[in-house]
Amino acid sequence: MGPDTQPDAGPAVPAVPPIPRRRFLRWLLGFSILSTLAMVAAPVGAFLVPPKSSAAGSGGKVLAGTLADIPLGRGKVVAMGGKPAIVINTAQGVVAYSAICTHLGCIVAFDDLSGTIACPCHDGRFSPANGTVVSGPPPTALPPVTVSVEDDQIYLVSA
Ligand code: FES
Repeated sequence: MGPDTQPDAGPAVPAVPPIPRRRFLRWLLGFSILSTLAMVAAPVGAFLVPPKSSAAGSGGKVLAGTLADIPLGRGKVVAMGGKPAIVINTAQGVVAYSAICTHLGCIVAFDDLSGTIACPCHDGRFSPANGTVVSGPPPTALPPVTVSVEDDQIYLVSA
């Protein structure tokens, strides 16, 4: 061995072809663009095609309680498809109305003492018999909600 010879490097390792830098950057750019488009398209698609609601959104029934929960002469506010409704057990039967006051949108409640539907914000009063305004500033009656009583179960039915 002379001074110009190199030491033996051992067995030869097969060379793995490297990924060209330009091809990798193109792939990375394409992935970034697709990810960005997906992040924009998903919420837009969800907005344009809303999911079907299983609650009382269209033609559904919501269990409001039982006749034992709402005895004669009493009322109760329940959720109906994300909106409040007031259910009242009157001598003429079980009735229900939207519980959103027609004045400025406060939630009404049944007043056991006066036997009326009362709004706590400006003391608006509604008749439990038909939802019409008895006194106070509300301009119109409470919108009615269809009620179905099956056995002792009280259901609110949306149109
Ligand atoms: S919001 Fe009900 S009376 Fe004003």
